[in-house]
Amino acid sequence: MGELRFEKSAAAIADAGRWIAGGVNSHFRAGMAPGPLVFTHGEGPYLFDVDGNRLIDYYCGMGAMVLGHSPAGVREAVKAQVDKGILFAGQSPIEAEAARMLCERIPSAERIRFGSSGSEVAQAAMRLMRAVTGRRTILKFEGHYHGWFDNILWSTAPALNAAGPEDAPVPVAGSAGQDTSEADGLEVMGWNDLPRLEARLARGDIAGVLMEPAMCNQGAMRPAPGYLEGALAACRASGTILCFDEVITGFRLAAGGAQELFGVTPDISIFAKAIANGFPVAAIAGRAELIDKFSTAGVLHGGTFNAQPVAIAAMVATQQGLTAVHFATAGARGQRLQDGVRDALAEAGITAQVMGFPLMFHVSFGLSEPPRNYREIAAADKRGYSAFALALLKRGVRVLERGAWFVSSEHDDAVIDATLAVVREAAREVAPQLG
Ligand SMILES: Cc1ncc(COP(=O)(O)O)c(C=O)c1O
Repeated sequence: MGELRFEKSAAAIADAGRWIAGGVNSHFRAGMAPGPLVFTHGEGPYLFDVDGNRLIDYYCGMGAMVLGHSPAGVREAVKAQVDKGILFAGQSPIEAEAARMLCERIPSAERIRFGSSGSEVAQAAMRLMRAVTGRRTILKFEGHYHGWFDNILWSTAPALNAAGPEDAPVPVAGSAGQDTSEADGLEVMGWNDLPRLEARLARGDIAGVLMEPAMCNQGAMRPAPGYLEGALAACRASGTILCFDEVITGFRLAAGGAQELFGVTPDISIFAKAIANGFPVAAIAGRAELIDKFSTAGVLHGGTFNAQPVAIAAMVATQQGLTAVHFATAGARGQRLQDGVRDALAEAGITAQVMGFPLMFHVSFGLSEPPRNYREIAAADKRGYSAFALALLKRGVRVLERGAWFVSSEHDDAVIDATLAVVREAAREVAPQLG
């Protein structure tokens, strides 16, 4: 089979660019090689594009499609709900059922509020942490992403020459147009460094600590042993609220997210992405006395589309699909894929770190040791990995250029075998070009 071609996607993006800025509706869909793709449909582990290519998809909707593309159960639930009504601007029974499911599943969840995107519920979390403590500053970590809004899009992937010293990082804006005053309520720290976090919290003036409990926007990094436990203890001792951003890790590392996997229960946590297999549902969850502040203490949380019944029907069906069997079966396949990628790269003589979790892992080229924080992973060979991602795409396997691989329950053994054959070929092709 010859290399796949993507000319019709390029033409369609150019055409759409007459009406849509850059032809795409999210920054994170632009800039990829050979250019953004235009898809006609998705099924199971596959996406089909306007050039007629069938691609094995490891974007999985940026992590959302944990049950694969177009699962029957989710489709049926959505169709049934559409026939009952679309938006009530009032409550519907299904949202209480959905909230109960999450409370039973997520260790920290005694109470829930639904929103529509991860960015939005991150805002709710920040407001709540400030309101409850009466303090102003939120602590975030280099390389962690909590949405695209002005007051939190800082130091998500900063250039190291702009990021200040490692022991005193300065906030670096993620976008043009962010006023520096927006960072006034933030402090940025390196992740996975418990003594430094403990020392900072001990000053007693931090409202909340917001962190990805496993760093999955940069790498797929585990917390150092004792880090989450230590962070929780230091938060308790200093009257600070601990919030886990489980937008990627939720419903992917375990049914109850990273907090279940690592056995550390934060005060509050936020979820989106895989919660509803591609439908716009997000949630903030936590201890009842904290989340109840949204109804008792004048902490405003709103949204026309919150708990949109069709999306909530998709959420309930998705949660029903996230069984112990799913995690065992899909997880075993994902682990086999991860191990196979590691072996294939080693066979081709490529220095790389392949690390993470069964249903989400990360590949960074050029690192001989597993990275433990943003500054360590920032040294990876991104151009080399982009060349590898393009070599995969031309052979029908679509992975994120930033190194993440998301696996769904639809990536069966045959798909994993087909992927690994392509990985071996692509690794042999790019190995000679790497430094
Ligand atoms: C950890 C994390 N938090 C928050 C967000 C923002 O979520 P959304 O894109 O739904 O606004 C993302 C998105 O990638 C994320 O990875």
